[in-house]
Amino acid sequence: MKSLSILSLFAIIIGISFPIVSGKNIICYFASWTVYRTSYGKFDVSNIDPSLCTHFNFAFIGLNEDASIHILDSWESDAQGGYEGFKHLVALKEQNPDLKICVSMGGWNEGSKTYSKVAADPEKRATLAQNVLKFIKEWGFDGFDLDWEYPTRRGGNDIDKDDLTELLKELHNVLHPEGYLLSIAAAGGYDKIIPGYDIPAINEVVDMINVMVFDFHGAFEYDVGHLSPLYAADVDRLYYDNITYNVDFGIQTWLNLGSVPEKINLGIVFYSRTFTLADNRNTSLYAPIKGPGKAGPYTNQEGYLGYHEICEFHLNSSTYVWDEEQLVPHIYWDDQWAGFEDPRSLTEKVKYAIDNDLGGVMIWSLDYDDFRGRCGKKYLLLETVNSVLKEYS
Ligand SMILES: *[C@@H]1O[C@H](CO)[C@@H](O)[C@H](O)[C@H]1NC(C)=O
Ligand SMILES: *[C@@H]1O[C@H](CO)[C@@H](O)[C@H](O)[C@H]1NC(C)=O
Ligand SMILES: *[C@@H]1O[C@H](CO)[C@@H](O)[C@H](O)[C@H]1NC(C)=O
Repeated sequence: MKSLSILSLFAIIIGISFPIVSGKNIICYFASWTVYRTSYGKFDVSNIDPSLCTHFNFAFIGLNEDASIHILDSWESDAQGGYEGFKHLVALKEQNPDLKICVSMGGWNEGSKTYSKVAADPEKRATLAQNVLKFIKEWGFDGFDLDWEYPTRRGGNDIDKDDLTELLKELHNVLHPEGYLLSIAAAGGYDKIIPGYDIPAINEVVDMINVMVFDFHGAFEYDVGHLSPLYAADVDRLYYDNITYNVDFGIQTWLNLGSVPEKINLGIVFYSRTFTLADNRNTSLYAPIKGPGKAGPYTNQEGYLGYHEICEFHLNSSTYVWDEEQLVPHIYWDDQWAGFEDPRSLTEKVKYAIDNDLGGVMIWSLDYDDFRGRCGKKYLLLETVNSVLKEYS
């Protein structure tokens, strides 16, 4: 105790301060493969500012069919002489002792099949919970996040909904008595929420639910749309159930079906989904597209741009449109169209989280922000999230 107070006194004297005062969660995913990006896109733990998030989740570890943990890329994660991502992420606590550093299992590329199989087998569920406990103890993580995308989808099956609950109960029974955190990343689209999640049961056993209220539109469809509208546009009514594909509808679904607001973190993306227009003259919502937008120099993937690429290469040379219904911006230039987040839309989303008494926000992911400050202020988007939380909550 005594040494602790001397330490904190020391911290005050030398001027270390951690400005997280809002009491809301800022859950930041660290997408570990971004260490392989080139030039100014390369992102590593050393680029993280540990004062701007309350929690970091290492993305991702994988799952084997025998319920053992699969280290997806040893070089970036645990190999000595490699990037040693686990070790370095956990070490951020030396700079900010209030931080919680968790490890996340799953993600889009892991698919759903293995999760469905393991969750269906009581013995494997128990084994997985023990393996997780051992793993987070070994590396010094503070908890575990399950990002199964998605129960009942992509090779999963109808009983996934109950099996997910059983798996989370098992993890709860093993992790919580030892003081570890348990969270999930969960779908934000109504059509995935309803079949996939027993919300009241999940609410009982997890600490946090990071709702992925994004990827509602993208070049996987045939027309233009923003990836994460806060509210529906009137035109959405003309297109099947697109009226359900927005942040508000997703969050209210989780709340109405039995989650307490404090456990919900509103998911926010720092990337853009981009399109190549079929006709340059039609840039409206649902305008036909030819395909994904052109790849950017840092992220190097068609259909996506990081905010850092938007601000460095496109903001000054495109037409900016603020959508008054959806409360999000998009830009277009030549035959390209990009929906993204900026300080104005983030202010709306963070205020929405506050107004609904949510636990906070989740960010996917740090590497897409202007983390080097090439367009001005370093970490403009994450700084905006922090300052809005501080100002209004
Ligand atoms: C939204 O509209 C598109 C057609 O433009 C359709 O392909 C898609 O299935 C719709 N999504 C929902 C959730 O109804
Ligand atoms: C743009 O596309 C939408 C959706 O297909 C259509 O309803 C609208 O009439 C088009 N506008 C123009 C100017 O071509
Ligand atoms: C964009 O424009 C602003 C002001 O109009 C300017 O300060 C900034 O340097 C420009 N950025 C780039 C990357 O050209």
